[in-house]
Amino acid sequence: MINFKDKVIELLDEKISSLSIEEIEGLIEVPPSYDMGDYAFPTFRLAKEYRKAPNAIAEEIASTMEGNEFFGKVQSQGPYVNFFIDRNKLVEDVMTEVMDKKEMFGSSELGEGKKVIVEFSSPNIAKPFHIGHIRTTVIGNSLAKIYKFLGFDTVTINHLGDYGTQFGMLISAYKKWGDREVIESNPISELLKLYVRFNKEAEENPELQDEARYWFKELENKNAEAMELWQWIRDISLKEFNRVYDMLNIKFDSYAGESFYSDKMPEVLEEMKEKGIVKESEGALIVDLEDYGMPPALIMKKDGSTLYTTRDIAAALYRKKHYDFHKNLYVVASQQNLHFKAWIKIVELMGYEWAKDCIHIPFGMVSLEEGTLSTRKGRVVFLEDVLNKAIESTKKIIEDRNPNLENKEVVAKQVGIGAILFQELFNQRIKDYTFNWDRTLSFEGETGPYVQYTHARANSLLEKGDFNQEDQISFHKLTGEDEINIIRMLYDFPDVVIDAMEKNEPFYITRQIVEISKAFNKFYNSTQIITQDEETKKARLMLVYATKTVIKTGLGLLGIEAPNKM
Ligand code: ARG
Repeated sequence: MINFKDKVIELLDEKISSLSIEEIEGLIEVPPSYDMGDYAFPTFRLAKEYRKAPNAIAEEIASTMEGNEFFGKVQSQGPYVNFFIDRNKLVEDVMTEVMDKKEMFGSSELGEGKKVIVEFSSPNIAKPFHIGHIRTTVIGNSLAKIYKFLGFDTVTINHLGDYGTQFGMLISAYKKWGDREVIESNPISELLKLYVRFNKEAEENPELQDEARYWFKELENKNAEAMELWQWIRDISLKEFNRVYDMLNIKFDSYAGESFYSDKMPEVLEEMKEKGIVKESEGALIVDLEDYGMPPALIMKKDGSTLYTTRDIAAALYRKKHYDFHKNLYVVASQQNLHFKAWIKIVELMGYEWAKDCIHIPFGMVSLEEGTLSTRKGRVVFLEDVLNKAIESTKKIIEDRNPNLENKEVVAKQVGIGAILFQELFNQRIKDYTFNWDRTLSFEGETGPYVQYTHARANSLLEKGDFNQEDQISFHKLTGEDEINIIRMLYDFPDVVIDAMEKNEPFYITRQIVEISKAFNKFYNSTQIITQDEETKKARLMLVYATKTVIKTGLGLLGIEAPNKM
């Protein structure tokens, strides 16, 4: 597509000698509304070169640029030079590109040859997969799709919490009180019960903790019984998690969790000792991080067992060697900020300049409104239950709105789950937010169902109007303000995807497709799309097609499906 901003830069560069291209680019603004132009250039910085007031400079520059190929109008307004993209050029450019690339509109080869690891979800084995995990799972999945769409070679990793002293507890508890059949009938709840009971009894009976340490040590020593139990617990937990991943349509390239690095630990510890960055402290090994304003990081306990931090360091070293990543992203809650800051610093202290490519992508907390789903202390809210409730509620809404819809079950799932994902990805990720059922499932306002519904509405127009992709289109028929408005937003879509990638913020895409949907519905209400004049009808339907396609692509990048009817 034509890069109109680059054209603005070229035009200005010809006229202005005192600013570099980069400086010009940095000064260009997008005015708050299109009637003030598509781009604006402030002239304050030129006062010295021109020895004139900014308003006069703006006027002078604008007057030399009238009537060029890309901008129908170049006008000064106070100290600004405003550039108005030639509408016909814009329409033709965007429409041709969408028709050509279809659902790949907005994709690129930007990331070609670069490998990006997106680590996300990473729940702990034998623990509930609860509402708190929704954010990492949904944000990570979307980021992986965005990177892939931009041509990066993307690897998704689920860094399962499948190792650590809690497995010593689980093994001890199982050996005392466990029943295999009972556990297999309801793995996570039963394992959680064992874990809770163990901790409770250990309060009165501290030697239980020694037993747990013993069993963890045995696990590290590859004792056959410990290994068998660990494997079993991992398998049944993963089976549970996979039910949720299936509902969300999420697949991982690797499930190499913490345990995967257990045998890589000695080598890493050795390397750290050689490089002189660890210190002994009461028999344990630590890295002093005082110079960096952080508390010391514990690397090895005095009984020789390693920690979460150690495993993350080993994992990063392994990933660099194995994948040679360009970037290694960790989508993990902001509660772990310090953990990430510390271990990434340690990797840097080990002399690896690529430590800077290990990037923690934090996000805020999600809480539930009282009364909507039980948040009573100690009662976990399973993610699976939340998803099922969304599907059930959506089914009822469909029953009300469109009882004759085919495939109600499938659509209820696409819309119910889509609604939750959309809500998750609607705000800047660092913001905390409160989950609200009514807002999430509403067909009005800035919601998933609203955008999906807009997509379905566009689809039914195409069917009704017998749209044919191969039709020749007279682009000059698209001149209405509401039409141009949509096209302007479609034009921005590829840049929005790049912004989302650069800032690791899927919500840019969420917002853009909400705006496109609003603009489309405005167009839908103001304009007779299937009209008598064949040429106009075809052009408008082509715009409907372009809108539908971009919405679908945007939803897809968020991990959300786009049903054709709902
Ligand atoms: N399993 C951890 C938890 O549930 C998250 C793991 C995050 N990833 C990492 N590389 N440390 O809190």
